[in-house]
Amino acid sequence: MAHVTEIARTDSEAETKEAVARAVALLEAGGIVAVPTETVYGLAADAMNPEAVARIFEAKDRPLFDPLIVHLPRKYLLHEVAEVPEDIAKVVAQLTETFWPGPLTLLLPKKPCIPDIVTAGLPTVAVRVGAHPVFGRIAKAFGRPIAAPSANLFGRISPTSAAAVFQELEGRVPLIIDGGACSRGLESTIIRIEPGEKKPIFHVVRAGPLSDDELKNFGKVRYQKHNDSVENQSPEAPGLLASHYAPRTPLRLIEEPGSFRPEPGKRYGLLSYRGSPEDGFIGRNDWAEVRILSPGSGKMPEAGVRFFFILRELDALGLDEIIAEPVPERAMGRAIMDRLRRASVG
Ligand code: TXA
Ligand code: MG
Repeated sequence: MAHVTEIARTDSEAETKEAVARAVALLEAGGIVAVPTETVYGLAADAMNPEAVARIFEAKDRPLFDPLIVHLPRKYLLHEVAEVPEDIAKVVAQLTETFWPGPLTLLLPKKPCIPDIVTAGLPTVAVRVGAHPVFGRIAKAFGRPIAAPSANLFGRISPTSAAAVFQELEGRVPLIIDGGACSRGLESTIIRIEPGEKKPIFHVVRAGPLSDDELKNFGKVRYQKHNDSVENQSPEAPGLLASHYAPRTPLRLIEEPGSFRPEPGKRYGLLSYRGSPEDGFIGRNDWAEVRILSPGSGKMPEAGVRFFFILRELDALGLDEIIAEPVPERAMGRAIMDRLRRASVG
């Protein structure tokens, strides 16, 4: 598994052409390659080749019970990898028309052609068509479904730049395609669809960049409660364990500013939403470091884009603890709070 990890740039058309060709050659040879998507960087392999897919699990130290997302080069290929039940066919067509390419992943019954290792033996497959132009070119040139989870070590912070992938997977992957910073910055919204009586029901298995405001035009949106997946031991998304997205430095989400009591001599870093004293945290301690997700008025898409980047930065500062302020649970704030709760030690 030892590799010399190279980074291929895509600043010019000539570089992009070469990077795409190298990525496709690796995929065709049953290898792995890290690729940019609009959400976070992914670690890609030929979804139809079980040995290639096994290399993803090995490189990430990912347990085999945690299934992978399948990326399609084009929307219409959905029917080659998934069965779309009659009673949700209409809404699936609406959703894919509206949101693909984009940060929406659908859980659907799988077709037998998808190897069991991809879905961890589950009868369903998670499918999406991503919107990153470089990944789009790789997927189209390859022409077949690609399995790609986030390109981090299992349980760690998702990478939103090529440099972050390098930190995570140096020596474990031969090539990283550098497509710049991810424009969304949080993993795709994953939903499971039920027919419902009047309207289809969207069970949000993982909150993401696509918010309920956007989804609710097509159905009723329901969120899973945090920790449901741990308590009932049969998680809807097996990868959504309680501890996930975690920095190496202990992180604590404090939902009540008044309850923070700093211990003397400890170096604390603050992860703040707006950096505003009204949020109650900035003034409560002599912070060793402060990082702000969306300075000033606080804008969710900006906070989303910067979230993993800033978390990774704080994690590199040798702090004793990272204290995270809550963000409002609306739009992408829901996805950020979900990641913070899973990253938090208590
Ligand atoms: O934005 C994204 O979705 C990124 C980019 C690279 O596409 N990918 C990503 O993959 O976040 P990953 O593996 O880090 O997270 C996928 C989640 C995991 O929690 C996994 O358990 C869940 O999706 N999942 C995948 N297939 C599933 C299935 N058949 N049933 C339930 N959950 C599934
Ligand atoms: Mg992940």
